Amino acid sequence: MDKAQIIQDTIFFVKKTLKNAEGGHDWFHIERVYKNALLIAKQEEVNHFIVALGALLHDIADSKFHNGNETVGPKVAQQFLQSLNVETTVINHVIKIIENISFKGGNLTQKFKSLELDVVQDADRLDALGAIGIARTFNYGGFKNRAIYNPDIKPDLNMSKEAYKASTAPTLNHFYEKLLLLKDRMNTKTGKDLAENRHSYMQEFLNQFYEEWNGKM
Ligand code: ADP
Ligand code: NI
Repeated sequence: MDKAQIIQDTIFFVKKTLKNAEGGHDWFHIERVYKNALLIAKQEEVNHFIVALGALLHDIADSKFHNGNETVGPKVAQQFLQSLNVETTVINHVIKIIENISFKGGNLTQKFKSLELDVVQDADRLDALGAIGIARTFNYGGFKNRAIYNPDIKPDLNMSKEAYKASTAPTLNHFYEKLLLLKDRMNTKTGKDLAENRHSYMQEFLNQFYEEWNGKM
């Protein structure tokens, strides 16, 4: 099977698998990440096939939606790519991308590094920022029945991976615990440039939010 056909089959598989996904982790999230990953990849010396497959499969079974189990996504991706007879070296690299892409509180050292992971991770992080980032975050908070904001519950920047995953804090806290930290963690030049603008937009949103909350607008 040629690479274009493998990509087409993967798109079909991902759309089908994520049919009932939460709105921030659905096919359209994958499509945005895929497009941004290809855009960033143009400026980098990377294997575009691995970037494409990594982007398309990165949230195929996110642990957040599988009782915290981080092995489902890599397993599902592996079985699917094996069914298409994709080369083992490509499959292994895609699995490493899926295993290492996530933020998880940001206090862990990432075990695997590659330029392809850098690109897909930047594309995924961009989708956590800006107007779309804001929309996705409140959608997830609503999905989890979280408060929008509670001034008495302060953000916690020193959470372990377990505490981060178990957190039920108000959605506004997620801006401080993750979203506003991403700008300085972008891997590529293109990723950094795109993140700047989205970051300022979120800061503006937060300023307006507090002004409205405090009755100043
Ligand atoms: P992780 O934070 O583990 O890397 P994701 O990258 O899948 O998880 O997060 C994707 C998006 O899901 C976030 O950018 C955010 O919009 C939403 N999200 C995840 N965790 C939370 C949370 N605790 N509160 C609000 N939104 C969240
Ligand atoms: Ni994602």
